[in-house]
Amino acid sequence: MKVDQSKTPLLDAIRSHHSKEPISFHVPGHKNGLLMDKNSRAFYSTDLTELSGLDDLHDPKEAILESEELLSHYYESEHSFFLVNGSTVGNMAAILATCSRGDVVLVQRNCHKSVLNGIKLAKAEPVLVETEWDEDGWIPLGVSPEAIRETLKDYPHAKACVLTYPTYYGFTYDIESIMEELHRYDITCIIDEAHGPHFKIGSPFPRSALDMGGDIVIHSAHKMLPAMTMGSYLHIGSGRVNRQKVQEYLSMLQSSSPSYPIMASLDYARSYIGTLTEEECKRNMEKARYFVKALKDAHAGLDVIRTHDPLKLLLRFKGKTGYELQALLEQVGLFTELADPFYVLMILPLLKDDKSFPFEEAVVRVTSALKREPVQEELPDPPYEKMTDKFYSVLSLDYEQMDGKEERWVCIDEAEGQIASQMVTPYPPGIPLLIPGEMISKKTIVRLQDYVKNKANIQGYHRLGEGYVRVYR
Ligand SMILES: Cc1ncc(COP(=O)(O)O)c(C=O)c1O
Repeated sequence: MKVDQSKTPLLDAIRSHHSKEPISFHVPGHKNGLLMDKNSRAFYSTDLTELSGLDDLHDPKEAILESEELLSHYYESEHSFFLVNGSTVGNMAAILATCSRGDVVLVQRNCHKSVLNGIKLAKAEPVLVETEWDEDGWIPLGVSPEAIRETLKDYPHAKACVLTYPTYYGFTYDIESIMEELHRYDITCIIDEAHGPHFKIGSPFPRSALDMGGDIVIHSAHKMLPAMTMGSYLHIGSGRVNRQKVQEYLSMLQSSSPSYPIMASLDYARSYIGTLTEEECKRNMEKARYFVKALKDAHAGLDVIRTHDPLKLLLRFKGKTGYELQALLEQVGLFTELADPFYVLMILPLLKDDKSFPFEEAVVRVTSALKREPVQEELPDPPYEKMTDKFYSVLSLDYEQMDGKEERWVCIDEAEGQIASQMVTPYPPGIPLLIPGEMISKKTIVRLQDYVKNKANIQGYHRLGEGYVRVYR
C-alpha cells in the first residue's frame, strides 16, 4: 500500500488549532505563550494540551494515531509508539512488559543505564554478556554470536535479551545471527537502537534491527533525526510481544501531560526521513567523504576514524586525550557529542537538499584550533588490558539481597573485590562502569581513575573527586 510519508497529521492539527486564534483557559500556565516575553512567544506556541482535535497520546484516536500509523508504516513494524521521555522510558517499558520477578535477562555489558534500571524495576536477574573491544581496548564494540551461544548454554531459559545496536560510537555487529540464535530459544529480543533510527534508510547505512527480527526496537529520534530532545520511538516488531502490556507500562511511566512540541517534532522527524530520497542520501555520503578528507588534511596529527555509521566520526589527536581535543575545538565554537580518554565523537547531520550545514566553516575552525599544536608521533597511552576473558558475568548479590543492605565509603584504590552499591556512570556515554551488586575489578578501577583524572562528568552517588565510591558492607 502506498502511503504519503510527507503527511504530518499532528503538526497539521496544531496549525489548524492556531488558525482559530485560540484564547486559552486551559493548561499550560503560559497561556499559548502570552505570559512569556514577546521574543519567546513563538517558542511556546506548540506547547498545547489534549484539546479537541489534538488527540491524546495515552488513548490515541485522531491525529496522534494517524501519525503513529505513518511511523509504523515507514518502519514496517507491527505497531509503533511515540515516546516523550526518551529511549530511557522505551527501554524500561520494554523490559517491564516482557520480564517478571526472577526472570533471567541477558544484557550486553556496555548497555545504557536505563536498561539496568528497567531490569531492577522488574526485579529480574541480569546476566551481563561481555562485549568485544577494539584492539587497544579503548572502544567497546558489540557482543559476538559466540558469547551469546556460550551464555545460552548456561541460561537457555532466559526470558529476554537486551542488545545495544549500534553502540554510541556507531559500531554494529552481527545482530542477525544473534537474534536467530535467541529466537531458537524463544527469547524476546529487545534492541536498544537509540542511535540508529536512520538505519531504516538502508545502504550505505547498516541494516535496521527491525528488518533483522528485533521483537522490540527503541529509537532515540532526537539523537539522529530532526526531533526534539526526549522524542523517541518504540516499535513492536513481532507477535512475540504483548502490545497491551507495553502500552500499559508506557502509560504508567510517561507523563499524563505529554509534551506537544516533542510529539510534533516526532511527527516531523518521521516525515523527514520518510521522504528522504536516494539522491539526497548519496549527497550526504559525498559531504561526509569531503568532510573526513578535509579534517585529515587540516593537521598531520589528527586522525579521523570512520565507524560503521557514516554519520559518526571519531577524532583522535596524537599526544592528546579526547577531553583535551574537545576543549581545543570548543575554543573555536565547535561542540562535539562526547569525549573520552582517547577520542572525540562527532555526529554529522542527515541533510535534505533544502537544508545546509556549515561543513566548510567547521574545517576552517578545526584548522585554526589545531594550527599551533605540534605533531607527536608516539601515542602516549598504552592499550588498556582486556576487561575480562569470560563470556558473561552475573551480579554477586541479587536485588533482594541488596535491598536495605548497609553501605560504606571505600577508597577507590582499595575497592578491588568489593561489591558496588551504587551505579557510577560517566556521562556521556551513560554506560555504567560500576553496577550495584557487581564485584569491582582492578581493570574497572583503572578505567574509572582515567575518567576521574580527565575530569569527566560522572553521574551517580560517589565522591570520586576525593577518591571514594560506595560499596556494600
Ligand atoms: C544506547 C543508549 N540507549 C538509550 C539511551 C537513552 O536515550 P534517551 O536519551 O533518548 O532517553 C541512550 C542515551 O544516551 C543511549 O546512548
